[in-house]
This record gives sequence, structure tokens and C-alpha cells, in this order.
Amino acid sequence: MSSVHPVPAEWAANAKINAERYESMYAAAANDPDAFWRKEAMRLDWMTPFTKIKNTSFHEADFGIKWFEDGALNVAANCIDRHLAERGDAVAILWEGDSPGEDRRITYRELHEEVCRLANALKANGVRKGDRVTIYLPMIPEAAFSMLACARVGAIHSVVFGGFSPDSLSGRIQDCDSTLVITADEGLRGGKKVPLKANVDEALAQCSSVSRVLVVRRTGGDILMKDGRDVWYHEAVAKASAECPAEAMSAEDPLFILYTSGSTGKPKGVLHTSGGYLVWASMTHEYVFDYRPGDIFWCAADVGWVTGHTYVVYGALANGATTLMYEGVPNHPDFSRFWQIVDKYEVDIFYGAPTAIRALMREGEEWVKKTSRKSLRLLGSVGEPINPEAWEWYYRVVGDERCPIVDTYWQTETGACMMTPLPGAHALKPGAASKPMFGVKPVIVDAEGKVLEGPTDGNLCITDSWPGQMRTVWGDHERFFQTYFTTYPGKYFTGDGCRRDEDGYYWITGRVDDVINVSGHRMGTAEVESALVAHAKVAEAAVVGYPHDIKGQGIYAYVTLNANETESAEVRAELVKWVRQEIGPIATPDVIHFAPGLPKTRSGKIMRRILRKIAEGDTSNLGDISTLADPSVVESLVTSRSVPA
Ligand code: WT7
Repeated sequence: MSSVHPVPAEWAANAKINAERYESMYAAAANDPDAFWRKEAMRLDWMTPFTKIKNTSFHEADFGIKWFEDGALNVAANCIDRHLAERGDAVAILWEGDSPGEDRRITYRELHEEVCRLANALKANGVRKGDRVTIYLPMIPEAAFSMLACARVGAIHSVVFGGFSPDSLSGRIQDCDSTLVITADEGLRGGKKVPLKANVDEALAQCSSVSRVLVVRRTGGDILMKDGRDVWYHEAVAKASAECPAEAMSAEDPLFILYTSGSTGKPKGVLHTSGGYLVWASMTHEYVFDYRPGDIFWCAADVGWVTGHTYVVYGALANGATTLMYEGVPNHPDFSRFWQIVDKYEVDIFYGAPTAIRALMREGEEWVKKTSRKSLRLLGSVGEPINPEAWEWYYRVVGDERCPIVDTYWQTETGACMMTPLPGAHALKPGAASKPMFGVKPVIVDAEGKVLEGPTDGNLCITDSWPGQMRTVWGDHERFFQTYFTTYPGKYFTGDGCRRDEDGYYWITGRVDDVINVSGHRMGTAEVESALVAHAKVAEAAVVGYPHDIKGQGIYAYVTLNANETESAEVRAELVKWVRQEIGPIATPDVIHFAPGLPKTRSGKIMRRILRKIAEGDTSNLGDISTLADPSVVESLVTSRSVPA
């Protein structure tokens, strides 16, 4: 399937960015970044105007990334206050609850009041500029209020996805020494309750830094409130004043930390700062989605991930948009839910993940076709490569062959979209991340770092900084440099493989490191391995990804049990449960393959290349196994392989 969809005539004529404008703006950003970004940064309100613009180097000798460094602004004021005069009564947040019928509409004026009250409540509970606040909430408006209230007082938020376990939460709280946690009694997803407060209680047993927990009442479920530590959110904000001046923040002051998995070690705290991030979030939100005032914009990601930060909250609100926040899941109460929500609110732009599209595709067209969807103008995809079959279904069935699809490639580290087709500028090729955003200079390099020209295949690097780039790993600047700038010195290495075709379109081919992408969520194989080996019955474990119809990649774990243990279905179930408890449900192994031994080199290094091939079922050509300490191990793994249907 290699169809190309040309730019529809109406889009070429009316879009903010057409082909010509794309070329000229791309060239302008590349040739004179200071001039380009001076102009783009004027989309924000600055408290102190900047005079310096780009001050960046990827080289060891003078390594550093700063944008607009002498300017000052407040991110929350940019997302709220400046819209009040003209759009005070416009809806900022449309909230759709887990069950149909439960909803809320929050205008910009109401958002201002909610955020000011909470900001004052944070201050009353000891939060000061630069302090860290951990947010562990479901997809409810209070999640956005919390992020913005932190931004208003200059506190650094760290949102932890509600699907993470108490252990994972505790690690993330300890890593950045949060002093306050905002959570809810329980979350609600697909009719199921998530014990958020109980998880916080368990996590805090291991954290000494936290002195306050604000608790949103969401379900009214029975929870423990610890005297002197836990405070009801609604009581705290009721007591607080609705006036709260926004703190002037340097452009390079931190805005948030977001933990993400890498190929080694524990998750890293990716740090984003204020000015550059917001310019980047706002600019991409406008151009990529061809956003127009009045549009109803729905990004279906959870705020626990960067997509939710940038497009549910910051980019959308910076542009004065109406952003839709949905608490639930695509299949509750049935498989029509997404499209019923589209009809209910007359959504113009829908931005979702391929894994959801594939899951809905499996259920058939009827669920989609019985809804109207005539309000939709544009569709987006994010988080993982979208296979052409799912792309065509999304285009034909959901978009009625009327809505372009922007397949946006980016990362937690990049802050916002790095590559995507623009709907008025680029013919669409299903599965292609297509073209770089303004200011993004991609190169494809070979294993030795040689830059490859023309149509080619290799590893994706970016040669120069863009405003929304992460600035450091929280507490470990050396790890930041080591992780991203030493594999190919002088370049930012994405960790992704990439192909460039004869039209100069980029195609992301997937991670080339030990990171796997499960349902659009990043998982370090090393993290799952360390959870497994922490189990008393496990001697050794190796985890790889394998192709999964719905999730994109599934988690395939090779496990060697201790000598006195017996392999059984019970032990398998016990290990799956264990990993869910250790990391969270998103790390649930799909396959546990008991392995009496793992293929290792004579120096003891596990040959992951072979394990990957066996997991993929591609055992006809395992390559050179002569360097293995015991080649017979491979034979036994091949014959014992079993992947559930
Ligand atoms: C990794 C980043 C994008 C924000 C949410 C995920 C993969 C992301 C695409 C895409 C192909 C994609 C990459 C990337 N990825 N978007 N459109 N096409 N691959 O952020 O958790 O930091 O994951 O997701 O492999 O490196 P993340």
C-alpha cells in the first residue's frame, strides 16, 4: 500500500501554511534563526523582553542550550490571563467524564479563578518558586489547574501517569524531592476505579520530602486522610483568594520535569524550561493543526505523557483554544465513544494514537459509521509509527476521506512536534513522519556517524537546537550530555532509526536502542528486566520487543528461574502480576518465555539481536552465532518459543 494523497485544493488555498510558505519559513528558520524566532516568540506576552535569542551548542567544549535567556514571562499568564479580555467567556476546557453524561465546561475566566485559588493554596501549603510538586491525577480539569497553578507560582511540576505503581511513583517523587503531591481519592477509567490515594500512601512510606498531599474528591470512595499531611483540595481552594499575581520567570527557569524511560538505568527526569518550550508548543499547535480561533481541539492523550502536557494543556491554552479533556478510554461504554464525543462537542481537530486506531479498527466500521463526524476537519497521529493499513482506515472510515492526517513524530525530549506533514503543504504518504518542522535540522547517519545524503536509511540525529528542546536531566546534567550527545558527537541522537525517500520524506522505522514502544508508551527493557530479577524465583531475565497487532510492540520476557524452581503457568502468572505491581500495568509482559539459558558471548554479554529475532519469529536467519559461549541455547529457545494469538 503506497498510496499518496495530494494536498486537497481547499487546504492548499486556505491553510495557514501552504507548500510555498513552508519552504520559505523553513529556509528562514535555518538561515537566520535569531530573526525567525524573534518573530515567533512575539506570539507570547513577555514581562521582560528578551534581547538574546539563540545561545546553544551541542559540542562538549561549550555545551549548553539557552533560548531567550534574558527574557521573563509567566507560562500560566500566557495560557490564561492574556485571553481574558477577548475570550474570557470562551470555553477553555471541555471535560468529558468516564461515563457519558458527566461533563464540565470551564471558561477562561473560570480557569483563571481556579488556577489563582489553587496557586494561593499551594503557597499556603509551603510551595515556593523552584520547589517540585508531583501531580498524580486522573484526566480531570484539576490536572490542568494543578499544572498551571505550579507555573503561576514558579513551582516545577512532575506529572506521574496514574497507571504507574506506588513504587514507580515513589522513585519519581524521591528523584526530584517533591514537597507536595496532588492526587485524587480514586481515578475512573472505563468504569474501573484506580486507587490513586492508596497508591500515594504506599509511595510516601518511602519518601521523606513530602509534607503535604492535596486530595481531589473524584469518586467519593473511601480513603484514609492522614492528619497533618493530607488536605482536601476543595477545602484548600475554598479558603484561598481568587487573586494571585503571576510570578515573573526567567525564560530558562524550569517549567516541568517529566520522567521517561531510556535504554539504561532508572527513568530520567526530562527537564523543560519556560520560554522556549511555550514558543515551541504554541507555534507547533497553530501550524501543525492549522488551528483557528473557535476550533474545538481534542488531543486524546493523558496529561501523564508529554503529548498531554504540550497539546492538551500548554500549546492549546497558549493559543486560546478550547481543549477537550476526556477522562476515559476508547471502548467504554462501547466502541463508538470517541466519535460520539466528537459529535457531542463538534470537534474540529482530533489527535490520537495509532494503538487506539488499531484497537477500534479491529471492532469494525459500524461503530464509527453510525456517528456523523462531520465537524472533523483534521486528524492527527502520535506516539509510534502508524502502519499504512491503520492509516488508511483512519483516513477512510474516521475522516471520510475528507480530513488530512498529520502523523507527528516527536519525543518527550523534544517538547513538541519535530517532523510531520503540514496539511496545507505536503502530500500525505501513509506512515511517513514526512517533513521537519521549522528550525529542525535532521540528518541520517550510519553506525560510524557519517552523514548520509539523498534517499537512505540509518539513525536519526538533529544537528542544531530548537526552542523546545529539553535542557537537562534533573539532577544529572552529565547523564543528559552522555545520553544524547556522545553517540554522534556534536549531534542530538534521537534513538530512532529513519529512512529518507526520494522525495525527501522522513519515515521513522522505530527505536534502535533498548527502548520499546508499547501502545505509544515508552518502556525501557532494562526496567522490566530489573523488576523481573527482583522476584525471588528469578535468576536472570532479558526483555525485548516483538510486533504486536494492537500495541505496536509487545513485551517479550525471557526468564531463567533459580535452579530449585519449576516452570509452570502459575509462576508465569505470578511474574506478570509482579511486574505490574513493580512498575505498573503499562509494563505488563505479553510473553514470558522460560529459558534454561540465555545466548551469551564468551565474555558474558547477552546477545539481544538473537533474542529479538526469536521473539519476532524470524528464526530462519539468526546471523552469526559462532561467538556464543553455548550455541545450543539458541536451538532450545527456538523450539520452545510460543507467542499467544
Ligand atoms: C518515541 C518517543 C511523541 C510524543 C509521545 C511519545 C516514537 C513518537 C512517532 C511517530 C513514529 C513515533 C519514536 C520516539 N514516536 N511519535 N509519529 N512516528 N514514531 O513520546 O514517550 O518520548 O516516545 O516514540 O520512537 O523516539 P515518547
